[in-house]
Amino acid sequence: MIESTIRKPLALITGATAGIGQATAIRLAGEGYRLLLAGRRAERLKLLASDLKTHYGAECYCVEVDVRNLKQLTETINNLPPDWKEIDVLINNAGLAAGLDPVQFGSFDDWNQMIDTNIKGTLFLTRLVAPGMIDRKRGHIINISSIAGKEVYANGSVYCATKHAVEALTLGMRIDFVPYGIKVSSVSPGAVETEFSMVRFKGDGERAKKVYEGFDPLQAEDIADAISYILSRPSHVNIQDILIMPAAQASSTVLFKNSVEGSK
Ligand SMILES: NC(=O)c1ccc[n+]([C@@H]2O[C@H](COP(=O)([O-])OP(=O)(O)OC[C@H]3O[C@@H](n4cnc5c(N)ncnc54)[C@H](OP(=O)(O)O)[C@@H]3O)[C@@H](O)[C@H]2O)c1
Repeated sequence: MIESTIRKPLALITGATAGIGQATAIRLAGEGYRLLLAGRRAERLKLLASDLKTHYGAECYCVEVDVRNLKQLTETINNLPPDWKEIDVLINNAGLAAGLDPVQFGSFDDWNQMIDTNIKGTLFLTRLVAPGMIDRKRGHIINISSIAGKEVYANGSVYCATKHAVEALTLGMRIDFVPYGIKVSSVSPGAVETEFSMVRFKGDGERAKKVYEGFDPLQAEDIADAISYILSRPSHVNIQDILIMPAAQASSTVLFKNSVEGSK
């Protein structure tokens, strides 16, 4: 009887079709969350939802959205079924790096895509979801930043600028939401082996593979683990930020390659 009266927490994860978002969905499903899974690749969302139901009995609701599209996002969030409206946790994870170029040769399209996804996507979702959290005086927003939000590396200035913006937004949201009991945290990873480099290099598999050669990169599950830690703290604790790096990576540019014999 008691079980039926306790509502399972509901988490919205953007970018749940791959990498960190997908690993986080799996982790939170195992921890009893209900999940709103967001991303553009609907087939992947459906497959993930069905796997999570099979393996964990998790309830999932899939939303096919592009976080750059404010109109689509607004309609989606405002028209969620009643049982799916009270979002407890928002994980602003959808994001990408596009290209690796000095500013003088950068692509305008790449810049727009990174700025619109990483900065505006995070802002749009937060603006749409936070008022409900404020009304309920309950909620937790976790923004996925990066070591690129703390340092700038050659040819990555625009990606680094977007993640520096995510850092500023996290700090600003923390200030704005603190009176309402809404927690705000960020996770800032170093190199994680996901589809990230395939996306950055636009499907050039050879170039993407080289990024992770010669050392043990983080896996998406390592970041899901950090997110789980943040969410499982007692109510009086807010983790502000977790900077998490592979053991072989000391900064955005200092990577001890050949730390793994017979590179991957
Ligand atoms: N991998 C790393 O080394 C690393 C390091 C530091 C920080 N990060 C950050 O971690 C986050 C997740 O990246 P990842 O490594 O897991 O990369 P990934 O495997 O490429 O996953 C990226 C996810 O973002 C989603 N996405 C991208 N653009 C979107 C859009 N316009 N609308 C909705 N969803 C969108 C993708 O879904 P769809 O394509 O299906 O829409 C995908 O699910 C990003 O914010 C990234 O900047 C990654």
